[in-house]
Amino acid sequence: MAEDARRGALPASGPSVRAGAPTGGRVWSATARLAGLGLTARRWTALAVASALLLAGGLTVAWSGPDEPDAGDQVAIGWHTSEPPNRPTLRGLAPATVRIGAAVSARLLDDVPYRATLASDFTAVTPENAMKWEVLQPTPGSYDWTDADRIVELAQANGQAVYGHTLVWHSSVPSWVSESWSRERLRSLLRQHVITVASRYRGKVWAWDVVNEVLAEDGSLRDTIWLRRLGPGYIADAFRWAREADPDARLFINDYDTEGRTRKADALWRLVRDLRTAGVPVQGVGFQSHLRSGRQPRDVTGNLRRFAALGVAVAITELDVRIPLPVSQEELVNQALLYQHMLAACLAVSTCESFTVWGFTDASSWIPHRYRGYGAACLFDADMRPKQAHGALVAELQERAPGAPR
Ligand code: XIL
Repeated sequence: MAEDARRGALPASGPSVRAGAPTGGRVWSATARLAGLGLTARRWTALAVASALLLAGGLTVAWSGPDEPDAGDQVAIGWHTSEPPNRPTLRGLAPATVRIGAAVSARLLDDVPYRATLASDFTAVTPENAMKWEVLQPTPGSYDWTDADRIVELAQANGQAVYGHTLVWHSSVPSWVSESWSRERLRSLLRQHVITVASRYRGKVWAWDVVNEVLAEDGSLRDTIWLRRLGPGYIADAFRWAREADPDARLFINDYDTEGRTRKADALWRLVRDLRTAGVPVQGVGFQSHLRSGRQPRDVTGNLRRFAALGVAVAITELDVRIPLPVSQEELVNQALLYQHMLAACLAVSTCESFTVWGFTDASSWIPHRYRGYGAACLFDADMRPKQAHGALVAELQERAPGAPR
């Protein structure tokens, strides 16, 4: 794994199986294309898909082929067992060039269904919080690597790549770090932090979010402790320090509200262009993609392509699709279409190297805490049953799998 991670190679497919294709596959790919026609078509499509789901008995319970399980088996998949689930998995269908990742929470690693689904469906993990500064160093002087190491070790045992998140951010700065310290002291502290963390995981992570959320909504540099005290050069410095500490990890800049064509995305594009022109080792752009069901960002594929044309890798790094509560069947369908749309955009761009969801079960997503009145944002429900969104990703991957009819 260390070798693989160093080369940025994809881990081999693990404990997952290819099962019979869900009969809903064609429906999903056709409707996804229709969804591109706009709101009216999307609404019509949602209804059509909902009906198709009812006819098919629900996408997650619609199977074909010799191993067709009964509804009772469907309920039990992926639970209390490390056996591969008897359903198609994202991991089993993942193309060789794209990591399918999930953010993981260290405190849930002992939960058996959580572990089983993490292993069965994903080829990569991102620590949701465990590599953030205030978690790693709550008090000055020493680091606590417990949670981050556990995630890395489990990923290695599962043959999964690790996406490091995040070295420099305005949030999650330990409370003992004081803005009143001198510029020199703060700069050397930040440098020390970047180098310490990136060195520890050298050869164990394939990529790092070196800087996270450095832009404001209007496209200016975000007003943070780092910008105020160190000036805009902190961004280039962070990349150079990370490169020094881990020459082989792919170095990303990561942000939100940049996945579609927005003013902020334009500003990010210019920033990446300028950094690369200046020789700063920015090698990838991460698009967080915290989305709302029914609100498709504008021209995601075109946006990813213009970044790719700068010579960088691109990645969907934190996808979730929140639904206004109470959850309705229509919004679950809208959610599935949006998940599928984002995956299709990534698969359409040859340098899209990973597609990561921010949590995979509604039991533990950050969304209800962050967005009051919203929830159900993930691929699996709170009982770890795959939702329509999971089925839509399966269908998208199956459509593109070698040998699949076009
Ligand atoms: C979030 C986590 O999901 C929460 O558990 C935590 O309380 C706050 O941070 N953008 C990012 C992530 O880059 O690190 C954030 O994660 C979500 C927004």
